[in-house]
Amino acid sequence: MRYILGNFKANKTRSEMQAWVNEFTKAYKPHPQVTVGLFPQMTHLDYLSASLSHLQNVFVGSQTISSYAEGSFTGEVTAQALSGLISYSIIGHSERRKFFGETDDVLFDKVTHAKQNGIEPIYCIRNDQDPIPDGVIYVAYEPVAAIGTGQNEPPEATCAMKQKIKLPPHSIFIYGGSVNASNAVEYFKTNEIDGFLIGKVTLDPQEFLAVVNVAKSH
Ligand code: PGA
Repeated sequence: MRYILGNFKANKTRSEMQAWVNEFTKAYKPHPQVTVGLFPQMTHLDYLSASLSHLQNVFVGSQTISSYAEGSFTGEVTAQALSGLISYSIIGHSERRKFFGETDDVLFDKVTHAKQNGIEPIYCIRNDQDPIPDGVIYVAYEPVAAIGTGQNEPPEATCAMKQKIKLPPHSIFIYGGSVNASNAVEYFKTNEIDGFLIGKVTLDPQEFLAVVNVAKSH
C-alpha cells in the first residue's frame, strides 16, 4: 500500500475548502494500492469527513491532537473529542516543535492519548535524533531544510537516513519535504518509501491528484 497524505496546514477558508472538495471529488479515482489521507484545519474536519465519506481509500485526519485528556484545558482539542471522527493524526510536525515548543515528552503524551482513543499517529521526525514513541507504526521523516523550500531531499539521502533511524518493526516509512508529481517517481523507484506527507502541493487539488496518480502507476 502507498500513502499520499495531504497536510493543509493553516490554510483555506470554509468556502475555499468547499471548492477544493468539489474539484477533488470530480477527479479522484480510487486505486486498491493507494490510500489518500487529508489533514485540514480542525474546523474543517467534520465537513471534509462528511463530504468525502463516499470515496474509497480516502481518510481524514487532524494535524495535531491535545497532549491532555479532557478537562479544564481551554482551547485544546482532545483525542476523546476527535475519536470516531478521525482515524489518524499527524503528531510532532517540525512546525509544532518549532513554533509551539512541543517537546518529545509532550509528543509522547499525544501519542498515548491518540492510541487510547483509536487514533493512529503519523509521527513526524526531523532526523535520526528524534526519538519515536513505542506503538508508532507510521513514521514521517521530514528533513527541515526540505519543508516548504522547493528543495526536496534526494531519494538516496532519504534512503541513507532511513538506515540510521531506529524504525519500529513493521513500520510504514513516509517522506515529506517539497514533494511534487515530478520528483515523487524517484522515491518510489527506490522501493524504500511507502508514501509522502505533502504540504504546499496539497493546496491545489489537481497538483495533489497528480502525485496520487504517480503512486498508482509506479
Ligand atoms: P511541503 O510541506 O510539501 O510544503 O514541503 C511538507 C510538510 O510540511 O509536511
